[in-house]
Amino acid sequence: MKVFVTGKLSDKAAQALSNFAQVDAYESDEPMERSQVEERLEGKDALVCILGDRVDAELFTKRPQLKLVANVAVGYDNINISDANDSGVLITNTPGVLDNATADLAFGLLLAAARRIVEADGFVRRGEWTGWKRELMLGAELNGKTLGIIGMGRIGKAVAKRARAFGLNIIYARKGNDKKTDDELKKTFQAERVELNELCRRADFISVNCPLRADTRHLINKNQFDIMQPHCVLINTSRGAVIDEQALVQAMEERKIASCGLDVFENEPQVPEGLLALDNVVLAPHIGSATRETRAAMDELAVKGLIEAFNGKLPTNAVNPDVWQKFSAKLKTTASP
Ligand code: DGY
Repeated sequence: MKVFVTGKLSDKAAQALSNFAQVDAYESDEPMERSQVEERLEGKDALVCILGDRVDAELFTKRPQLKLVANVAVGYDNINISDANDSGVLITNTPGVLDNATADLAFGLLLAAARRIVEADGFVRRGEWTGWKRELMLGAELNGKTLGIIGMGRIGKAVAKRARAFGLNIIYARKGNDKKTDDELKKTFQAERVELNELCRRADFISVNCPLRADTRHLINKNQFDIMQPHCVLINTSRGAVIDEQALVQAMEERKIASCGLDVFENEPQVPEGLLALDNVVLAPHIGSATRETRAAMDELAVKGLIEAFNGKLPTNAVNPDVWQKFSAKLKTTASP
């Protein structure tokens, strides 16, 4: 079987994949053009890709031999799942292995924004520091404050765990109605479930940790910024489009909130000028999962799922398991020599 990888996998994953399949891998870490992906996918049974690679019906139609797409990310908003279902293409992602790395970054951004660390760094480097002053670079204390977590999945819980160690009280908003999960969250983190708008009204800090879906696109918009507290610090390590970026720029310019820490943007790698111009915004280039350990684990999980699927076992990291019968039938009829 033949696989195309849109980048270089970590050593262990690359070895496992090449023991199993004929691998063609893009030689660079630069993002690939869509036309290049289409070209290199010719005759391939599977694609291992990243969140910048768009996968949809057009691609499936052009490359009908494609049976599986392993997305090396937990978020899979770059893939049209309904198109994949129609084409019998199995999609996998990498859940569970990046929770700690992402939660660490969320906290890094929270501390940086609340304690003005990036601003302070620039101040020292520019030689503006003349001595200890009572009111120099005053920021917000975490201990005893309220953190609102939007999305209480695996990453939200990893953020909650860190929050407790910093003395934060936790409120959260999430989808789903099972009482058992809310009871567990109360027991483990003394966390209180609230509606989104109540969270926005009450939180001193907000961490966005929900996936991007049709129902979470622009979940945080002008309506929410209008009710946030002026000292609120907003952190986003999920997907840029969960927040209406224009509304965020306006809220920041009008000082509706105090500061923000952003690892993700609506049109990456573009960052709005309005955000670049502000001192009280901490920016990162989508590096939530960027630790050596986590990136290796993501690659390994992607390759493991791929091998399992082509060996006839539905991988646990399949995001559209209902397509399994179609995938299996396709495997029998269009296997590459
Ligand atoms: C993910 O896995 O979705 C992350 O955003 C990639 O780092």
